[in-house]
Amino acid sequence: MNIKKIFENNEQWIAEKLALDKDYFMNLSQGQSPDILYIGCSDSRVTAEELMGVQPGDVFVHRNIANMVPNTDLNVQSVINFAVRHLKVKHVVVCGHYYCGGIKAAMQSADLGILNSWLRNIRDVYRLHQDELDAIIDEEERYKRLVELNVQEQCVNVIKTASVQRAYQDRGNEFMVHGWVFDVRTGKLVDLNIDFDNILKNIMKIYRII
Ligand code: CO
Repeated sequence: MNIKKIFENNEQWIAEKLALDKDYFMNLSQGQSPDILYIGCSDSRVTAEELMGVQPGDVFVHRNIANMVPNTDLNVQSVINFAVRHLKVKHVVVCGHYYCGGIKAAMQSADLGILNSWLRNIRDVYRLHQDELDAIIDEEERYKRLVELNVQEQCVNVIKTASVQRAYQDRGNEFMVHGWVFDVRTGKLVDLNIDFDNILKNIMKIYRII
């Protein structure tokens, strides 16, 4: 990728937007009120807006390696707090993807330096679901299932936050957390339809803070 080309692309993009609506950027500058917070992987193949077919202003986006929501990560915790409390998003999405390098790395024995502590959060997901995962003989199927279970556990981490618990309490059906997976091999976005009521029924008494 030629860096100079990016600035040429930008000029072309501005011209295209203004040809359709001369006030496009003026309107964008007025502020944002996205309905969705999307937490996804930094993977260059999983482009949040493009795979969802949404426009600037539609989605508040946070991306990191393997779409993690660590309880002590000030970055993702601040994003959730801002999006839910101030932007008042109606949906929080954690979107994982099959063939995720972060998940793959966490399934292997290797000292990856500063990445070790980040990837340990994924190893903890494996431990929580060890019986199910170890029972899957096919390595690719086990890898794909860990991607899904990681999405599930990161959604649970989202639900542990005070801002999300308050949104559920105050806004009822107007607010929802979703777990999705993007399949890089087909381009398909899949809703995991995670049954949070069932998953949380025994543990919410531990994590409820409001
Ligand atoms: Co990834």
